Amino acid sequence: MLFYYLYIFEPILLEKAKGSWVWDVEGKKYLDCVSGTWSVNLGHNHPKIVQTIRDQSKKMIHRSMRFLTPITIEAAESVLKFVPNKYNNITFLNSGSEAVEFTINFAQKVTGKRKVLSLKDSYLGAYGLAKLSSYTSGKASELKIPYPTCETSDCNCLDEYNELIEHILKNYISELACFVLEPILVSGGIIRPCSNFIRELCSKLQEEGILIISNEVTTGYGRTGLKFGHEHHKIKPDIIAIGKAMGNGYPVSAIVTNSSLSSELSPAEMYYAQSHQLDPLGAAVAKLVVDVFEEEMIVQKSQEKIALFNQFLGTLEYPFIKEIRAQGMVYGLVLQSYKGLSSNNLILKIKDNLLQEGIIIGASIGKEILRLLPPLTITNNEIKILEEKISKVFNSI
Ligand SMILES: Cc1ncc(COP(=O)(O)O)c(C=O)c1O
Repeated sequence: MLFYYLYIFEPILLEKAKGSWVWDVEGKKYLDCVSGTWSVNLGHNHPKIVQTIRDQSKKMIHRSMRFLTPITIEAAESVLKFVPNKYNNITFLNSGSEAVEFTINFAQKVTGKRKVLSLKDSYLGAYGLAKLSSYTSGKASELKIPYPTCETSDCNCLDEYNELIEHILKNYISELACFVLEPILVSGGIIRPCSNFIRELCSKLQEEGILIISNEVTTGYGRTGLKFGHEHHKIKPDIIAIGKAMGNGYPVSAIVTNSSLSSELSPAEMYYAQSHQLDPLGAAVAKLVVDVFEEEMIVQKSQEKIALFNQFLGTLEYPFIKEIRAQGMVYGLVLQSYKGLSSNNLILKIKDNLLQEGIIIGASIGKEILRLLPPLTITNNEIKILEEKISKVFNSI
């Protein structure tokens, strides 16, 4: 009946949502610990967002591409203020994949070069060059490099990795348009690349005019503990791609850069036409989400939740847990085989049992990880419920 491509759907039908919860058609509620598709950092159906969608859709949902609307200009100003460092150019698109693909095409046009550099475990998008540069593409046509993961600032990983940086500079400078960095590799396994390495690589590349793109589709809007993921590495990207949480469930994304780059292109080179870019409804949501983040101090307040999660995860001692990974509000439990169950079967069993208990978590078979990316607004009481359910299911294994 339905065409679906990737997922075998869960055996429940969801019909409504609020805050950290979703309800199925039978009225059973589930704590959504993956924030939809890692998108509702403010929780589902935030009342102010629902109101904004109502108000804006009464005024105007969509318009002809040749026209701007006041709300689009206001949203541009708000998002540019929200993004760290000074940028003065933004355009609104619809999905994360579209934003990342746009940044790569833009970098190619500005530099006149083609090749794209990325870290080998990054996920950058569902199609095009973003997909080719992701771990999900088996094709080795783009430059996907290894990287160190040291956690201390006085690491000496550069002794080893300088050679790689030199190799890239020596062999690819003339072809390389950009380095697309996913600052914390979320889908690729919840891995934080070494900041000393990232800083050194970015600075050497920028000296050579190669553009640094920060893919903040998942790491943006407080997900990794800071407002944006690249802040962990103390770098200043040339271009930033934003998505997911910027619309808190509504499909709006953006690319952010400076006019010093865009002014290098003629109007013909800049041309990009897609029916819903800069639509007023998406812009209204994007502006409201930024306002809520600022007014309700969402990132600051999430620090308490992060501490609670880390405290709880630190207490989990089960023979089937191989490793626990945590980056802000992104958590991963790497499992290993136990009592004759392979790690993947264990992941599915735990995911299914938790679903029965009213908890939705992420299960990545390829990476052998159970993943939690709850809304940043999850309450202390909801965290307690999650802890009880996790303990109950884990004890039953
Ligand atoms: C880091 C990153 N980049 C890009 C994307 C693609 O975004 P979308 O699914 O909105 O197209 C994702 C989606 O999960 C992502 O995690």
